[in-house]
Amino acid sequence: MIQTDREEIAIAAAGARWEPRIIAFCCNYCAYAAADLAGSKRMQYPANVRVIHTPCTGKIEMEHILDAFEKGIDGVLVAGCLEGGCHFLEGNLRARKHIDRIREILDEIGVGAGRLKMVNFSAAMAPSFVEHVEDIVKTVRGLGPSPLKPSTQTESAGKP
Ligand code: FES
Repeated sequence: MIQTDREEIAIAAAGARWEPRIIAFCCNYCAYAAADLAGSKRMQYPANVRVIHTPCTGKIEMEHILDAFEKGIDGVLVAGCLEGGCHFLEGNLRARKHIDRIREILDEIGVGAGRLKMVNFSAAMAPSFVEHVEDIVKTVRGLGPSPLKPSTQTESAGKP
């Protein structure tokens, strides 16, 4: 009996500690440099954000983002160079169109557009990078676990 109570408490505690899992796809030029600068300046940002390099935001396909959600990620930040500053000329403009379309799809399938955001940085914009990371974590925390999260992950992840 005591063992059962302990298990229930452990499950409840695990639910109370749910934290969103976020991926930040950062282009290998300005966005990653801004993230790197934030790290080297010891600027704090939530640890539940995993930064993934991509050559350019224009190289991120819809499948990459939908696949992340299907694997249990709760939110995705796509970070590229400032408009006019893409090292592949118009990659970030192409990405913006893709992201807008994917946001529509996320709304249509009940996941919510708020879980996906695109932002643009120069290499020197470390504070802005941190702000946007904190912002998406806060937004997704408010939305709760992704409805696409595999059931094994959802069972142990209560809403905040
Ligand atoms: Fe940064 Fe294209 S290289 S968005």
